[in-house]
Amino acid sequence: MASVTYDHATRIYPGTERPAVDQLNLEVEDGEFLVLVGPSGCGKSTSLRMLAGLEDVNGGHIYIGDRDVTDVQPKDRDIAMVFQNYALYPHMSVADNMGFALKISGTPKAEIRQRVEEAAKILDLTEYLDRKPKALSGGQRQRVAMGRAIVRQPQVFLMDEPLSNLDAKLRVQTRTQIASLQRRLGVTTVYVTHDQTEALTMGDRIAVLKDGLLQQVGTPREMYDTPSNVFVAGFIGSPAMNVGTFDVKDGKAVVGHAAVPLERDVVSQLTDADNGKITVGFRPEALDVVSSAVPDALQVEVNLVEELGSDAFVYGSLKTDGAAGELHSGSSDQVIVRIDPRDVPMKGDTVYVTIKPGKSHVFSASTGARL
Ligand SMILES: Nc1ncnc2c1ncn2[C@@H]1O[C@H](COP(=O)(O)OP(=O)(O)OP(=O)(O)O)[C@@H](O)[C@H]1O
Ligand SMILES: [Mg+2]
Repeated sequence: MASVTYDHATRIYPGTERPAVDQLNLEVEDGEFLVLVGPSGCGKSTSLRMLAGLEDVNGGHIYIGDRDVTDVQPKDRDIAMVFQNYALYPHMSVADNMGFALKISGTPKAEIRQRVEEAAKILDLTEYLDRKPKALSGGQRQRVAMGRAIVRQPQVFLMDEPLSNLDAKLRVQTRTQIASLQRRLGVTTVYVTHDQTEALTMGDRIAVLKDGLLQQVGTPREMYDTPSNVFVAGFIGSPAMNVGTFDVKDGKAVVGHAAVPLERDVVSQLTDADNGKITVGFRPEALDVVSSAVPDALQVEVNLVEELGSDAFVYGSLKTDGAAGELHSGSSDQVIVRIDPRDVPMKGDTVYVTIKPGKSHVFSASTGARL
């Protein structure tokens, strides 16, 4: 087992100007499960493929343990990859599929058999070893693909969206299995997904990428509680954080005809470039529903109530009565409020909410950086 280090690792594809991955600095500890997450095209697969040796590194270095592998052939890196399209060989049995890489590398038959049987036991595939892939369910096939990686006993597992071919329910089951399997085996793992829920539930730490640039690295809790910029704030968490940019007046952010108090040292960090504005974010669960008499409560006109049994969410519009300021949540232009599922308002009602103390996030209006 080994750590993984990206040191200013950069990939510029031929014929393009902007790097697909730009000076990535990232350290993955020995035995750690690190999730690379971000929207489509942000450079996740490219980062993983550079580590695998499948993409050239045009700047910087990549290390596995203390060894600089930047120019090392993929087959000499001691890694195993699981892809979204894990294409098993249809004419081979499960056992032969799992042992194929070992056979190619000249491992003795008896040892292959032993390692395949061990992996099959871990993955609950023992009774399927003689079957062909077409006689397996999607989840079982996915486990064979994992088995293929496990039998190689690599220093690092690389996984690129390995669950995206599974249906929603199986995906949830399998992500728990993979996470606990990784903890059991203790093999350093870099896992790519565009799904922030997968990232939050699986990773020891999460690295968020956008446009080839690393935005933040941290534990799921850190990413959720203290996103370092507006992008991470909006990307991590579901439903997404409510975010808006507002005028600052008398040390408060003016949100419609309400005002959100700001800490003095936050206000002092505003610069000329911010032009008297500040970006404020608060999660749907960071709001208290209050009575209409509470001064400075935000007023939300209810457009839709989503009831999920244990939870309920109001999707609404912020009432500003013509004052400046609008809020959005993720890609939706609505405000989202988590409410008591036993006390839901009607469409068209107005709910009054205040942000729980200490639960607002403030960012520079000009740079998006956390203040
Ligand atoms: N072979 C290539 N040649 C030129 N550009 C490429 C090539 N492969 C990827 N890119 C570009 O590099 C950027 C990063 O691509 P990458 O595949 O790493 O994204 P990703 O984060 O894995 O996205 P997705 O979630 O859609 O898989 C994208 O803008 C993509 O268009
Ligand atoms: Mg990809």
